Amino acid sequence: MAGFTTDEELEQSTNTWMLWGAVLMAAFVLAFPLYRWVEPANRAEARESHVASLAEQGQGLWSLNCSSCHGLNGEGGVGPALNSQQFLQASSDDQTSLLISVGVPGSQMSAYSLDYGGPLTSEQIRSIVAYMRSWEADAPDVPEWRDMVSG
Ligand code: HEC
Repeated sequence: MAGFTTDEELEQSTNTWMLWGAVLMAAFVLAFPLYRWVEPANRAEARESHVASLAEQGQGLWSLNCSSCHGLNGEGGVGPALNSQQFLQASSDDQTSLLISVGVPGSQMSAYSLDYGGPLTSEQIRSIVAYMRSWEADAPDVPEWRDMVSG
């Protein structure tokens, strides 16, 4: 600590440093919760837009591969009504993906995963499931969704 001629000067300098220290400390203390508050929101937003683009991709695959039996909007036909609130609530994304991958042996529901001789990659199946999930917000009540409309 060179250059201080009086105790008073030294004390003033120390006070200045302490003040800046306190200001910095306060800034960190305030910034941390702010960061913790903003960061998950950013992540949720990124996740949401990812899911939305996945669902958009799934919509095309659905109309090509699934709509002939389950209806263009999942309302059912030869296959069950999958836009039913009851189905969407009962089946998790993983369960639905697995069923689409493997199919239902002995029914018209064939296996769709490349692993089981079907035409779709697991990413494509995930996108179809994301699309089906997008129905959930205003899905109709169809308790008898397993009863097929025809066939
Ligand atoms: C040729 C007609 C046909 C096509 C095409 C078809 N399905 Fe199916 N699907 C069915 C039938 C029939 C069932 C009912 C099987 C059973 O349980 O007997 C079924 C069942 C299902 C189920 C199971 C519902 C439950 O019981 O939990 C899901 C999920 C499903 N299909 C999704 C799809 C998706 C996604 C596609 C497109 C990739 C698709 N299906 C294409 C006829 C079809």
